Amino acid sequence: MLNGKTAIVTGGSRGIGEAISCKFASLGADIAVIYAGQRSAAEEVCDRCIRGYGVRAKAFQCNVADFEMVKETVAAIKADFGAVHILVNNAGITRDGLTAMMKEEDFDAVLDTNLKGAFNMIRHCIGLFLRNREGCIINITSVAGLMGNAGQSNYSASKAGLIGLTKSVAKELASRGIRCNAVAPGFIATDMTDGQTENPLVAAIPLGKMGEALDVAEAAAYLAQAGYVTGEVLRVDGGIAM
Ligand code: NAI
Repeated sequence: MLNGKTAIVTGGSRGIGEAISCKFASLGADIAVIYAGQRSAAEEVCDRCIRGYGVRAKAFQCNVADFEMVKETVAAIKADFGAVHILVNNAGITRDGLTAMMKEEDFDAVLDTNLKGAFNMIRHCIGLFLRNREGCIINITSVAGLMGNAGQSNYSASKAGLIGLTKSVAKELASRGIRCNAVAPGFIATDMTDGQTENPLVAAIPLGKMGEALDVAEAAAYLAQAGYVTGEVLRVDGGIAM
C-alpha cells in the first residue's frame, strides 16, 4: 500500500500516466499530476478517478523539458503536499523519422522531453527525498531503448539514455534509502500508438496482443512497493524484447 505517500506523475493526465495516477491513488497515495497543456483533461482525471479513492489530487502545468519551470513546480508541489515520496517520470513524446532525414529539432525535442525532462524532475526532487530519508523514482522507458527501432533513433536514444540515468541514480542514492527503477513497456494501446495495430512488430509479440496502460501501471505499482529492488528495468512487453 502507498498510504501517506505523495506521488508526482508527469504526463499523468492521459494514457499510461493516467493509469499510473489512478493505480497509485487506489493504493492510497496522494497524487500531483503534471500535465503539459490540457488543464481540463488533468482536472478530469483528478476528479473522476483519483479523488474517488479518498486521496488528495492536484494538477500542475509544467513543461518537464524546462529546468527552471520544473524547479518552480516541484517547489509548488512541496508547498502544497508537504512532502514528495515517489516520482514517476512518464512524460514522453515521439517525432519519428529515418535518421538520414531527421530534422535536428525533432532529435532535440525528443531528447529534451524524454531524457532531460526526467533528469530535471529527478534533480529537483532529490533534495526532498534526502530530507524524507526515503524516495522512489520510476522512469518509464521503452523496449525501443533496449532493442533500437528503425525510424525511432531519437526516441530509442532517449529511452536508452533513461536506462543509464536510472542505473546511475540508483547507484548514487541507494545508500540514502532512495530507489530508482525503470519500466520498459512494449506496444501499449494509448494515443501514442494509435494506428499501430498494423505494425508488423505487433504481430511479432509472443503474447499475441498489445498491452493495456493498466499493465504498465501495475508494474509501476510493484516497483513503488518493492523495497529491496533498485536499478531494475522491468519489461512489460508481451515478451517482444526477450
Ligand atoms: P501519451 O502521448 O498518451 O502521453 C504522454 C503524456 O506526456 C501526455 O500526457 C503529454 O501531455 C505528456 N507530455 C509530453 N511532453 C511533455 C512535456 N514536455 N512536459 C510535460 N508533459 C509532457 O503516451 P503514452 O503512450 O501514455 O506514453 C507514456 C510514456 O510511456 C511515454 O514516456 C512513452 O514514451 C512511454 N511508452 C509508451 C509506449 C506505448 O506503447 N504507448 C511504449 C513504450 C513506452
